[in-house]
Amino acid sequence: MSRIVDQPERYFSQLVRRNDPLLRELEQDAHAEGIPIVGPLVGELLFIISVAMRAQTILELGTATGYSAIYLARACAITAGRLTTLEIDPAFAARARKNLERAGLLPHATVICGEALPRMSEMKGPFDLIFMDIDKIDYARTLNDCHRLLRLGGLLVADNIAFPDADEFNRAIFSDAAGWQPVSLLSFLPGHSPEKDGLCLALRC
Ligand SMILES: C[S@@+](CC[C@H](N)C(=O)[O-])C[C@H]1O[C@@H](n2cnc3c(N)ncnc32)[C@H](O)[C@@H]1O
Repeated sequence: MSRIVDQPERYFSQLVRRNDPLLRELEQDAHAEGIPIVGPLVGELLFIISVAMRAQTILELGTATGYSAIYLARACAITAGRLTTLEIDPAFAARARKNLERAGLLPHATVICGEALPRMSEMKGPFDLIFMDIDKIDYARTLNDCHRLLRLGGLLVADNIAFPDADEFNRAIFSDAAGWQPVSLLSFLPGHSPEKDGLCLALRC
């Protein structure tokens, strides 16, 4: 009978690339300050998805220090695309701008300081990809604007969908058969933000 490796999380942790000094520094800062960043595995996943779909326009909800934004903006540097990222906390927005500048990615990224819902309602889109990583209670509230802002066939990636506060979002996206084609990936992702609770990927129909 076949079986998987012992301690799969530890095993696959060794297979996550950790060769970028700036990203390592941001991981250390996040660890020291308790900032829940996505970590290298989800960062790579966001980069790969964005490049694979040749994303020209990406919207991120929840920037913090710009860690996931660096992965997304690096994809934009390849696809000649552009990242817009929203952050409610002015101090985080300023740090993110500085970190994107250090990474040489400011030509591909705009950090907007403000609350996601009103900022999104002012936007026109269309976006190819939206990465959602704000307070989980706000996921359901921003879902209509995500649908409006994504192009047909665009992709919504929502982090931490096993938080109790994401319940309304999970129910809404799975009940809206006409609007979304979702899949929830609940798994223990090595190096994922402390919660390790997986992602929802949903195609905009
Ligand atoms: C989980 S952290 C983002 C981590 C970042 N995506 C990363 O992986 O590097 C969530 C961030 O979203 C911000 N935030 C929370 N609710 C928000 C809202 N309604 N609008 C805008 N930003 C919000 C918080 O201030 C925090 O910096």
